[in-house]
Amino acid sequence: MQLSAEQLAEFDDQGYLFLPSLFSAEEIAVLNTAAADIYESDRQEVWRETSGVARTAFAAHTYNDAHACLGAHPRLINPVEQLLDGKLYMHQYKINAKAPFDGDVWQWHQDFGTWHRDDGMPEPRAMNIAVFLDDVTAANGPLLFIPKSHRLGVIDAGHDLETTSYPLWTLDREMVSKLADEGGCVAPTGPAGSMLMFSSLLVHASPANISPLPRTIVYLSLCHVDNHITLHNRPEWIAHRDFTPIEAMADDCLQAMAQARQADQATVAAE
Ligand code: SIN
Ligand code: MN
Repeated sequence: MQLSAEQLAEFDDQGYLFLPSLFSAEEIAVLNTAAADIYESDRQEVWRETSGVARTAFAAHTYNDAHACLGAHPRLINPVEQLLDGKLYMHQYKINAKAPFDGDVWQWHQDFGTWHRDDGMPEPRAMNIAVFLDDVTAANGPLLFIPKSHRLGVIDAGHDLETTSYPLWTLDREMVSKLADEGGCVAPTGPAGSMLMFSSLLVHASPANISPLPRTIVYLSLCHVDNHITLHNRPEWIAHRDFTPIEAMADDCLQAMAQARQADQATVAAE
Protein backbone atom coordinates (compact mmCIF):
# COMPACT_ATOMS: atom_id res chain seq x y z
CA MET A 1 0.00 0.00 0.00
CA GLN A 2 1.36 3.41 -0.98
CA LEU A 3 0.01 6.84 0.02
CA SER A 4 -1.20 9.16 -2.74
CA ALA A 5 0.22 12.65 -3.34
CA GLU A 6 -2.95 14.11 -1.71
CA GLN A 7 -2.52 11.93 1.37
CA LEU A 8 1.15 12.91 1.71
CA ALA A 9 0.19 16.60 1.40
CA GLU A 10 -2.55 16.20 4.04
CA PHE A 11 -0.14 14.52 6.48
CA ASP A 12 2.35 17.31 5.92
CA ASP A 13 -0.26 20.01 6.47
CA GLN A 14 -2.28 18.56 9.39
CA GLY A 15 0.29 16.26 11.03
CA TYR A 16 -1.93 13.18 10.76
CA LEU A 17 -3.84 10.98 8.36
CA PHE A 18 -6.90 8.82 9.06
CA LEU A 19 -7.55 5.65 7.06
CA PRO A 20 -10.87 4.08 8.14
CA SER A 21 -11.54 0.32 8.11
CA LEU A 22 -8.08 -0.79 6.94
CA PHE A 23 -8.32 -4.17 8.71
CA SER A 24 -11.23 -6.64 8.57
CA ALA A 25 -13.32 -7.74 11.56
CA GLU A 26 -11.60 -11.20 11.45
CA GLU A 27 -8.13 -9.64 11.54
CA ILE A 28 -9.09 -7.36 14.45
CA ALA A 29 -10.66 -10.26 16.38
CA VAL A 30 -7.32 -12.13 16.32
CA LEU A 31 -5.53 -9.07 17.75
CA ASN A 32 -8.24 -8.40 20.34
CA THR A 33 -8.24 -11.97 21.67
CA ALA A 34 -4.47 -11.77 22.01
CA ALA A 35 -4.70 -8.40 23.81
CA ALA A 36 -7.21 -9.78 26.34
CA ASP A 37 -4.88 -12.74 27.11
CA ILE A 38 -1.92 -10.41 27.55
CA TYR A 39 -3.81 -8.08 29.91
CA GLU A 40 -4.71 -11.08 32.08
CA SER A 41 -1.09 -12.16 32.42
CA ASP A 42 1.21 -10.78 35.10
CA ARG A 43 4.08 -9.88 32.76
CA GLN A 44 6.25 -6.91 33.71
CA GLU A 45 5.38 -5.38 30.32
CA VAL A 46 1.74 -4.90 31.39
CA TRP A 47 1.47 -1.50 33.08
CA ARG A 48 -1.63 -0.95 35.23
CA GLU A 49 -3.74 2.04 36.30
CA THR A 50 -3.66 2.85 40.00
CA SER A 51 -7.06 1.01 40.17
CA GLY A 52 -5.35 -2.18 38.92
CA VAL A 53 -6.92 -2.43 35.42
CA ALA A 54 -4.49 -2.70 32.52
CA ARG A 55 -3.36 0.64 31.07
CA THR A 56 -0.87 -0.52 28.46
CA ALA A 57 0.98 -3.66 27.38
CA PHE A 58 4.44 -2.94 25.99
CA ALA A 59 6.40 -4.94 23.41
CA ALA A 60 3.64 -7.45 22.59
CA HIS A 61 5.14 -7.90 19.10
CA THR A 62 8.08 -9.68 20.79
CA TYR A 63 6.06 -12.29 22.72
CA ASN A 64 2.74 -12.73 20.87
CA ASP A 65 2.43 -14.13 17.33
CA ALA A 66 -0.65 -12.06 16.31
CA HIS A 67 1.01 -8.82 17.43
CA ALA A 68 4.26 -9.90 15.73
CA CYS A 69 2.19 -9.93 12.50
CA LEU A 70 0.79 -6.46 13.13
CA GLY A 71 4.26 -5.12 13.98
CA ALA A 72 5.49 -6.11 10.52
CA HIS A 73 2.27 -5.63 8.59
CA PRO A 74 2.76 -4.19 5.08
CA ARG A 75 -0.37 -2.01 5.39
CA LEU A 76 1.48 -0.20 8.23
CA ILE A 77 5.15 -0.56 7.35
CA ASN A 78 4.97 0.45 3.67
CA PRO A 79 3.32 3.89 4.12
CA VAL A 80 5.66 4.78 7.01
CA GLU A 81 8.71 3.75 4.96
CA GLN A 82 7.35 6.07 2.29
CA LEU A 83 6.84 8.97 4.74
CA LEU A 84 10.19 8.57 6.55
CA ASP A 85 12.05 7.62 3.36
CA GLY A 86 13.82 4.41 4.34
CA LYS A 87 13.91 1.28 6.47
CA LEU A 88 12.40 1.31 9.96
CA TYR A 89 12.86 -0.31 13.34
CA MET A 90 10.32 -0.58 16.16
CA HIS A 91 11.08 2.00 18.85
CA GLN A 92 8.02 1.16 20.93
CA TYR A 93 4.94 -1.07 20.62
CA LYS A 94 2.02 -0.71 22.99
CA ILE A 95 -1.56 -1.94 23.33
CA ASN A 96 -3.40 0.80 25.23
CA ALA A 97 -6.51 -0.44 26.98
CA LYS A 98 -8.39 2.67 28.18
CA ALA A 99 -10.63 0.27 30.11
CA PRO A 100 -14.39 0.88 30.59
CA PHE A 101 -15.08 3.20 33.57
CA ASP A 102 -11.43 3.15 34.79
CA GLY A 103 -9.28 4.05 31.75
CA ASP A 104 -7.26 7.09 32.81
CA VAL A 105 -6.12 10.17 30.86
CA TRP A 106 -3.02 10.65 28.73
CA GLN A 107 -1.85 14.21 29.35
CA TRP A 108 -1.01 16.69 26.57
CA HIS A 109 2.35 15.74 25.03
CA GLN A 110 4.47 15.20 21.95
CA ASP A 111 5.91 11.68 21.66
CA PHE A 112 9.20 12.89 20.23
CA GLY A 113 9.59 15.11 23.31
CA THR A 114 9.83 11.97 25.47
CA TRP A 115 11.86 9.92 22.95
CA HIS A 116 14.38 12.75 22.59
CA ARG A 117 14.74 13.67 26.27
CA ASP A 118 14.55 10.17 27.77
CA ASP A 119 15.93 7.95 25.00
CA GLY A 120 18.31 10.28 23.10
CA MET A 121 16.52 9.90 19.76
CA PRO A 122 18.39 12.42 17.58
CA GLU A 123 15.71 13.69 15.15
CA PRO A 124 11.91 13.44 14.75
CA ARG A 125 12.41 10.90 11.93
CA ALA A 126 9.94 8.61 13.69
CA MET A 127 6.18 8.45 13.92
CA ASN A 128 3.17 6.66 15.27
CA ILE A 129 0.55 4.43 13.81
CA ALA A 130 -2.59 3.77 15.82
CA VAL A 131 -4.76 0.75 14.93
CA PHE A 132 -8.21 0.75 16.54
CA LEU A 133 -9.11 -2.65 18.07
CA ASP A 134 -12.51 -1.29 19.19
CA ASP A 135 -14.84 1.28 17.66
CA VAL A 136 -13.48 4.64 18.85
CA THR A 137 -16.22 7.21 19.48
CA ALA A 138 -16.69 10.53 21.28
CA ALA A 139 -17.81 8.47 24.31
CA ASN A 140 -14.90 6.13 25.07
CA GLY A 141 -11.82 8.34 25.42
CA PRO A 142 -10.68 9.04 21.84
CA LEU A 143 -7.31 10.52 20.97
CA LEU A 144 -7.36 14.35 20.80
CA PHE A 145 -5.06 16.10 18.32
CA ILE A 146 -4.04 19.72 17.84
CA PRO A 147 -3.75 19.85 14.04
CA LYS A 148 -0.64 21.59 12.61
CA SER A 149 1.16 21.56 16.00
CA HIS A 150 3.82 19.26 14.48
CA ARG A 151 5.24 22.25 12.63
CA LEU A 152 6.67 23.85 15.78
CA GLY A 153 9.45 21.37 16.61
CA VAL A 154 10.04 20.26 20.19
CA ILE A 155 7.93 22.37 22.58
CA ASP A 156 8.90 23.11 26.22
CA ALA A 157 7.56 20.46 28.56
CA GLY A 158 7.72 19.37 32.19
CA HIS A 159 8.28 15.82 33.45
CA ASP A 160 4.95 14.68 34.94
CA LEU A 161 5.55 11.78 37.35
CA GLU A 162 2.28 12.10 39.25
CA THR A 163 -0.90 12.45 37.16
CA THR A 164 -0.97 8.84 35.94
CA SER A 165 1.01 5.64 36.50
CA TYR A 166 3.13 6.44 33.41
CA PRO A 167 5.76 9.25 33.47
CA LEU A 168 5.49 11.66 30.53
CA TRP A 169 6.96 14.99 29.36
CA THR A 170 3.79 17.14 29.24
CA LEU A 171 2.84 20.60 27.93
CA ASP A 172 1.31 23.27 30.15
CA ARG A 173 -2.26 24.55 29.68
CA GLU A 174 -1.20 27.97 28.41
CA MET A 175 0.79 26.41 25.56
CA VAL A 176 -1.96 23.93 24.66
CA SER A 177 -4.54 26.77 24.58
CA LYS A 178 -2.30 28.87 22.34
CA LEU A 179 -1.75 25.96 19.94
CA ALA A 180 -5.49 25.20 19.83
CA ASP A 181 -6.27 28.86 19.02
CA GLU A 182 -4.26 28.30 15.85
CA GLY A 183 -4.97 24.65 14.92
CA GLY A 184 -8.20 23.77 16.74
CA CYS A 185 -8.66 20.47 18.53
CA VAL A 186 -10.03 17.32 16.88
CA ALA A 187 -10.91 13.76 17.88
CA PRO A 188 -10.60 11.38 14.91
CA THR A 189 -13.12 8.58 15.51
CA GLY A 190 -14.10 5.51 13.51
CA PRO A 191 -14.76 1.78 13.48
CA ALA A 192 -12.48 -0.97 14.77
CA GLY A 193 -9.86 -1.72 12.09
CA SER A 194 -9.23 1.95 11.30
CA MET A 195 -5.69 3.30 11.18
CA LEU A 196 -4.45 6.72 12.27
CA MET A 197 -0.93 7.85 11.35
CA PHE A 198 0.50 10.85 13.19
CA SER A 199 3.73 12.80 13.39
CA SER A 200 5.91 12.26 16.46
CA LEU A 201 5.74 16.05 16.94
CA LEU A 202 1.94 16.31 16.87
CA VAL A 203 0.54 17.49 20.24
CA HIS A 204 -2.02 14.96 21.52
CA ALA A 205 -3.81 13.65 24.61
CA SER A 206 -6.86 11.58 25.54
CA PRO A 207 -9.55 11.97 28.21
CA ALA A 208 -10.55 9.32 30.74
CA ASN A 209 -12.96 6.62 29.62
CA ILE A 210 -15.90 6.73 31.99
CA SER A 211 -18.15 4.99 29.47
CA PRO A 212 -19.00 1.28 29.81
CA LEU A 213 -17.33 0.65 26.41
CA PRO A 214 -13.76 -0.56 25.87
CA ARG A 215 -11.33 1.50 23.77
CA THR A 216 -8.30 -0.57 22.88
CA ILE A 217 -5.76 0.96 20.48
CA VAL A 218 -2.41 -0.50 19.36
CA TYR A 219 0.44 1.95 18.74
CA LEU A 220 3.47 1.21 16.63
CA SER A 221 6.19 3.84 17.10
CA LEU A 222 8.42 3.41 14.08
CA CYS A 223 11.81 5.09 13.68
CA HIS A 224 14.17 5.40 10.70
CA VAL A 225 17.05 2.94 11.28
CA ASP A 226 19.62 5.75 10.90
CA ASN A 227 17.95 7.69 13.72
CA HIS A 228 18.08 5.09 16.50
CA ILE A 229 18.15 6.02 20.17
CA THR A 230 21.43 6.75 21.95
CA LEU A 231 20.41 6.60 25.66
CA HIS A 232 19.22 3.54 27.54
CA ASN A 233 17.47 5.11 30.52
CA ARG A 234 14.26 3.14 30.13
CA PRO A 235 13.81 -0.65 30.08
CA GLU A 236 14.47 -2.37 26.73
CA TRP A 237 10.77 -3.34 26.46
CA ILE A 238 9.71 0.35 26.63
CA ALA A 239 12.41 1.82 24.34
CA HIS A 240 13.76 -0.98 22.15
CA ARG A 241 17.47 -1.43 21.44
CA ASP A 242 17.07 -3.83 18.53
CA PHE A 243 17.58 -1.60 15.50
CA THR A 244 17.21 -4.39 12.92
CA PRO A 245 15.23 -3.14 9.89
CA ILE A 246 11.67 -4.51 9.82
CA GLU A 247 10.92 -6.75 6.83
CA ALA A 248 7.21 -6.57 6.03
CA MET A 249 5.31 -9.87 6.22
CA ALA A 250 2.65 -11.05 3.74
CA ASP A 251 -0.50 -8.93 3.56
CA ASP A 252 -2.68 -11.91 4.55
CA CYS A 253 -0.65 -12.87 7.66
CA LEU A 254 -3.45 -11.97 10.10
CA GLN A 255 -6.18 -13.35 7.85
CA ALA A 256 -4.30 -16.67 7.65
CA MET A 257 -4.08 -16.75 11.45
CA ALA A 258 -7.84 -16.08 11.73
CA GLN A 259 -8.60 -18.94 9.30
CA ALA A 260 -6.24 -21.34 11.11
CA ARG A 261 -7.98 -20.59 14.42
CA GLN A 262 -11.43 -21.09 12.88
CA ALA A 263 -10.27 -24.46 11.51
CA ASP A 264 -8.90 -25.45 14.96
CA GLN A 265 -12.22 -24.51 16.59
CA ALA A 266 -14.17 -26.52 14.00
CA THR A 267 -11.94 -29.57 14.68
CA VAL A 268 -12.45 -29.26 18.46
CA ALA A 269 -16.22 -28.85 17.98
CA ALA A 270 -16.30 -31.99 15.78
CA GLU A 271 -14.38 -34.11 18.33
C1 SIN B 1 -0.31 8.02 23.74
O1 SIN B 1 -0.38 9.19 23.59
O2 SIN B 1 0.79 7.45 23.60
C2 SIN B 1 -1.52 7.18 24.06
C3 SIN B 1 -2.79 7.90 24.10
C4 SIN B 1 -3.97 7.01 24.20
O3 SIN B 1 -3.88 5.77 24.01
O4 SIN B 1 -5.06 7.50 24.41
MN1 MN C 1 1.64 9.75 22.76
